[in-house]
Amino acid sequence: MFWEKEIETIPERELHRLQLGRLKKTLKQAGKSPAYGKIFKTHRISLDKIKTLNDLKRVPFTTKEDLRKNFPYGFVTMAKEKIVRVHSSSGTTGRATAVFHTVNDLEGWANLVARCMFMTGVRKGDVFQNMVGYGLFTGGLGFQYGAERLGALTIPSGSGNSKRQITLMGDFETTVIHIIPSYALHLWKVFAEMGLDPRKDTKLRIALIGAEPHSDATRQRIEEMYGVQAFNSYGLSEMNGPGVAFECPEKSGMHFWEDHFIVEVIDPKTQKVLPDGEEGELVFTTLMREAMPLIRYRSKDLAAIFPEPCRCGRRHRRISRIKGRSDDMFILKGVNIFPLQIDMVLMNIPEVGTNYQVVLEREDFQDKMVVRVEVRPEFFRGELRQLENLRRQISESLKSEILVTPKVELVEPDTLPKSEGKAVRVVDRREM
Ligand code: COA
Ligand code: AMP
Ligand code: ZN
Repeated sequence: MFWEKEIETIPERELHRLQLGRLKKTLKQAGKSPAYGKIFKTHRISLDKIKTLNDLKRVPFTTKEDLRKNFPYGFVTMAKEKIVRVHSSSGTTGRATAVFHTVNDLEGWANLVARCMFMTGVRKGDVFQNMVGYGLFTGGLGFQYGAERLGALTIPSGSGNSKRQITLMGDFETTVIHIIPSYALHLWKVFAEMGLDPRKDTKLRIALIGAEPHSDATRQRIEEMYGVQAFNSYGLSEMNGPGVAFECPEKSGMHFWEDHFIVEVIDPKTQKVLPDGEEGELVFTTLMREAMPLIRYRSKDLAAIFPEPCRCGRRHRRISRIKGRSDDMFILKGVNIFPLQIDMVLMNIPEVGTNYQVVLEREDFQDKMVVRVEVRPEFFRGELRQLENLRRQISESLKSEILVTPKVELVEPDTLPKSEGKAVRVVDRREM
């Protein structure tokens, strides 16, 4: 069963023809933005040089740094009158990025999410509860419009308030949830505390899980805990958000939609394009975006392409689970965090010494971040307890930058282990 049979089962040659046409259109559109205008001029990229898909390799990569340098409007191709939405990453320290959409962009995105949901078995008549953040996070509105496009009855519950989530599931007889895997583990514990068993006390049948790395063992655990089929959902804001790649009922790799994206895998060090099957960094080119097309965008996510045809009949290739990152970004409670953001916040507080340590833990079904901070000797009067205001200030400043609430612990000067060379300040002890 397909959402769009013709496009999902398109033969390879036809797909490549479609991609080439869309690529040319995209490059033309991209060239209208100040940033690509300059890049194309510097690298002498002109449309007549793009004769095959292989010629895409002539175009240089676009990085998150490029997006930041050109923040906010540098990659936008048209007047504001035609743009209807922006999604932006967290960060007040100059680390933010923004992605803009026209009405057509949003339509295309909603259709892709509907395609993914339909592929996993979601149908009209299903009751869909979307338990991720709305607003600037793409998972909220992205799934909302996708589910509406499909025709499911939607509950835009957003993140947090776990007991209410469970009540909503009971009241409206939710059958499908979108949930971050680490939160699914936590929510199960809240079910148990309420004396409920999601397998018996809900009508759940499908869980769409993603937005953070997780193992197949975690998926299986969620399937057992909730009595559902769980499917991995991958996306990134720069490529709309959810709807980029998704598992089909075969659950062996995620189909990425080749009519909307050209995906390359590169060696992050040499930047050479790798053959299918080899693991490297995913690089994306949008094929359908108007407001802000991106060409050869380096995602920093590590995965491999499975070239073999899938038994489900879809001709779009699949990627493996995301194996890691080629940069130091980590994800906590579904929120992306760069260590540099933490560093910038801490180093702006005069009482903070030069040494600190960040530990990520999964304890009692809950993820948390502990930030141990050395107090500068000049400010230390022998009692850490007297510095409660400082502790609170650090916690609030970090929360406003990284969005999640850290547990801040002050420690005496010169008590944290000093690392040799480049400081490794984030220790991830979460079991994936
Ligand atoms: N998804 C949904 N709810 C979450 C969550 C997650 N990943 N992580 C925590 N929560 C819940 C907590 O259980 C708590 O609710 P409860 O006390 O009723 O159980 C509430 O959100 C607040 O969480 P807490 O961990 O105390 O606060 P925080 O300040 O550290 O986290 C949030 C802040 C709200 C940003 C974060 O929890 C959140 O919303 N995460 C989801 C992000 C997201 O949707 N990303 C998707 C990108 S596509
Ligand atoms: P954002 O741009 O905030 O939507 O975050 C996108 C990032 O989240 C990706 O680049 C990945 O690092 C991560 N991510 C999203 N979905 C998954 C997934 N299913 N598995 C692993 N990581 C994911
Ligand atoms: Zn398949």
